[in-house]
Amino acid sequence: MRKQVIAGNWKMNKTHREAEDFIQTAKNEVPSAEQVESIVVAPFPFLQKLVEETEGTSLKIGAQNMHFEENGAFTGEVSPVMLKELGVSHVVLGHSERREIFKETDEEVNKKVHAAFKHGLTPIICVGESLEQREANETMDVVEGQVKKALEGLTNEQCAETIIAYEPIWAIGTGRTATSEQANEVCTHIRKVVSDYVNADAADAVRIQYGGSVKPANVDELLSQSDIDGALVGGASLEADSFLKLVEAGK
Ligand code: G3P
Repeated sequence: MRKQVIAGNWKMNKTHREAEDFIQTAKNEVPSAEQVESIVVAPFPFLQKLVEETEGTSLKIGAQNMHFEENGAFTGEVSPVMLKELGVSHVVLGHSERREIFKETDEEVNKKVHAAFKHGLTPIICVGESLEQREANETMDVVEGQVKKALEGLTNEQCAETIIAYEPIWAIGTGRTATSEQANEVCTHIRKVVSDYVNADAADAVRIQYGGSVKPANVDELLSQSDIDGALVGGASLEADSFLKLVEAGK
């Protein structure tokens, strides 16, 4: 049985004070890590404090991005070494906002995934199609290409430990959720891609989240699908109460 993993991606939101208030409320309320994995994916300036405050609790802290190099002349970037040193456990890589706005390529995402494993961080790899691609019936091909490229060169064990987040771009922040059938259809395809590209064991173990307008009202149905093992949530993860409801649903 795969354990559900619920991650709240705050994106570029919250003040330091708001972040702290959230964590004080959430850190002792999340269910045990044996029941469900819960992660807050916060902006860089909050990470150190949040890691310190959640120490010894079941709530984990993740970063939203990183560079693949360990150090050097990369003004404005944050390295995997820095994140590891802070005690961050997960890192979101290849989010569609990074691919679209910051022009991140599949090759860069792949380098970042390798760097994450090298430094003991669990990557949450985001994939997903645009509305145009969905309407042109290209969803499966687009997602397949992104998954294969992201996993290229990893060991079978690393592929199994990866978390893949299927986030259709047209459902992000739009209030337009993919139906649970649409979401599961693509997640099933992703698992098949992992099976063919890596092996059946990795496909069985890899956890596939759905992301895109997930909220307390639709999370149960999404999580009840056969190939959906959790959620990567933006807007509805910003308030502690709502985040806690989502995590509860993953139990
Ligand atoms: O990474 C989470 C995400 O992009 C979905 O955002 O606001 O639609 O839940 P939202």
